[in-house]
Amino acid sequence: KGWQTENLYLYQGYWYPSKYIISIANVMASQDTFQANPNDIYLATSPKSGTTWIKALTFAIVNRTKYKKNSLSTHLLLVSNPHDCLPYIESEILRNKPTYMTENSPRIFATHIPYSSLPQSIIDYGCRIVYMCRNPKDVFVSLFHFTNKLREEYLGFLKFEEAFKMFCEGVTPCGPNWDHVTGYYEAGLKHPTRILFLTYENMSMDTTNNVIHLAEFLGYPFTKEEEAAGEVEEIVRMCSFENLKEVNKHGNFREGVPNHAFFREGKVGDWNNHLTDEMSQILDQITKEKFDVYEMAEPNYT
Ligand code: A3P
Repeated sequence: KGWQTENLYLYQGYWYPSKYIISIANVMASQDTFQANPNDIYLATSPKSGTTWIKALTFAIVNRTKYKKNSLSTHLLLVSNPHDCLPYIESEILRNKPTYMTENSPRIFATHIPYSSLPQSIIDYGCRIVYMCRNPKDVFVSLFHFTNKLREEYLGFLKFEEAFKMFCEGVTPCGPNWDHVTGYYEAGLKHPTRILFLTYENMSMDTTNNVIHLAEFLGYPFTKEEEAAGEVEEIVRMCSFENLKEVNKHGNFREGVPNHAFFREGKVGDWNNHLTDEMSQILDQITKEKFDVYEMAEPNYT
């Protein structure tokens, strides 16, 4: 099934490319070799749901004291792609040495792997997980543009209608998108204290309170003094779309992906500018059906 620069393959109910970080080989290798620690924290997302943002916020929260003392984390986030600050399990297993973030305790990793395919030790230890999801309509539009940024070098552009059809069929990297969301949502119902479920929309609407909540969950709560000194807002500003887009306007991330590809519009509801009414209704219908099956209250995507 075509989507990215080459085919996607079905593995344990989800589709994966054969290259890039979330390749089928990296998922299998993560399952075989990745060993969790009990106090690890995982940031899980399906692609294009706000991974870059949640990585930046987490990195900034966890390293804020260090950054105040010697400006290390500011320095990193002001000169680096957030993906270089906080690794994916799927890329970390390919390295010989742990990266900066993974030398800390708790170790923090990101992952696109669906809940049901996570390395077993993460489940066995009951590690904490932050899951961020996003309105599938915006996920689709974001993925379409991201994919075409990759494709232009190799193949012709993906057609919008063709991409839409595949998205609806669940054929996207780590898709079906809905199953990815409901998998983590269901796990969160069973283990409410260890899975923090966030939406891109709510994060956009009230970033400050979400950052305060996230910091508590991560075990790095803000003190009253820090809040009074405006440190939460400082982190919100540093990790804002506008700021990170500016920092990442040049240079390349790995595998030929330009840094700027991770920062497009950064808005809630950009789908309104791209989807026809009919497409919008089709996605509404699928979303309703998928969430009904899992008895999931539809996240507030507005
Ligand atoms: P758009 O394509 O709609 O602009 P991911 O990080 O999971 O790959 O998701 C990418 C999406 O998040 C893109 O959405 C991107 O612009 C948006 N994004 C990246 N950084 C962001 C930030 N700091 N704040 C808000 N949105 C951000």
